[in-house]
Amino acid sequence: MVEKRSFGSFGPEVPLGTGRGQRAAHLYILSNDALTVRLSDLGAAIVGIDAPDGTGELADVVLGFDEAAAYYPDSQGTYFGATVGPSANRVEGATVAIEGATYRLPANEGANNLHTDAVRGLHAQLWHAEADEARDRVTFTLELAPGEPGSDLELPGRRAFSVTYELDGHCLRMTYEAATDAPTFINLTNHSYFNLAGQASGSVAAQELAVFAERFLPIDGASIPTGELRPVAGTPFDFRAPKAIGRDIEAADEQLERGHGYDHCFCIDGYEPDDGTGGLPEPRLAARALDPASGRGMELWTTLPGLQLYTGNFIGGVAGKGGHVYEDRGGFALEPEFYPASPSHPAFPSAIFRPGRPYRAVTEYRFFTAEPVPGA
Ligand code: BGC
Repeated sequence: MVEKRSFGSFGPEVPLGTGRGQRAAHLYILSNDALTVRLSDLGAAIVGIDAPDGTGELADVVLGFDEAAAYYPDSQGTYFGATVGPSANRVEGATVAIEGATYRLPANEGANNLHTDAVRGLHAQLWHAEADEARDRVTFTLELAPGEPGSDLELPGRRAFSVTYELDGHCLRMTYEAATDAPTFINLTNHSYFNLAGQASGSVAAQELAVFAERFLPIDGASIPTGELRPVAGTPFDFRAPKAIGRDIEAADEQLERGHGYDHCFCIDGYEPDDGTGGLPEPRLAARALDPASGRGMELWTTLPGLQLYTGNFIGGVAGKGGHVYEDRGGFALEPEFYPASPSHPAFPSAIFRPGRPYRAVTEYRFFTAEPVPGA
């Protein structure tokens, strides 16, 4: 089932793109026997996911806000649930070279760029929505065009983005596509923060996580990957077997100090580049998370090469749904994406797309239940 509702109006008008000049956002609610998912056309964002625990009890497992006005502008820079792009995560020196030309993004984190632009990025745009009742599916679309003042987000190409959310049993599938008429840089992600005990249940330190990555990307003092792919073995970054998120998070480790906890990209095993010509690529199992106390779990499958684990190191004090004030580590984000700073590391998988190589990615959240372990 797909239901459409008002999500209220928000502050300043959206400055560009499909929703230019508009101030009203809408919720699209997908539901089936297993899951209820609330989506917003503001930021093509996930606003809520109700999923069952081991006893069948539902809880909303993503952090967020009750109304559109709290999402835009995103004054606390949380990017809760949003589609982030066209350049998610960090770009070193805020510059991208494409076929000999240099493009400058805003230097909004020291000399570097984070998440494109806080007030103009794709997460801050009103997308066009198309619901497909028969398939429990909603598609959000948005176009960026060069030449219109400010509306190219500093990158080349007329780009048509689409994000489709679809429910399939216990799975929420997200399909991302972007066509461009000129070579350009595209790195999209979904920025949901999960708390599998329920969004208002405090620290996620006791929740278990497995990340299927032999290697991760160490960062410098400005959170830019150095270019090294470091084996996780023998480090606090070894999540190959499930462990509590908080088990090693306070370990004396230079990388954890630089990230103030986990804020690092893992190189998901088995990545195969997609040349954009065949059928959609098949996602691989990237991570599995479980709240042992409730038995509520989720697997993340993706076609993308990287997975940023961000343990909500700076979200303390943000007032979210139902007035609940989140604490640091009150949620963990798993952001499937191309590696951060790929433009400055030619050995990283390329996020340059062209007319003959459209951007395509599939990410799935597959929810599951387990026997609850009381007191875990
Ligand atoms: C980044 C964090 C940042 C967060 C919210 C994550 O993708 O890696 O450093 O604090 O987004 O902006």
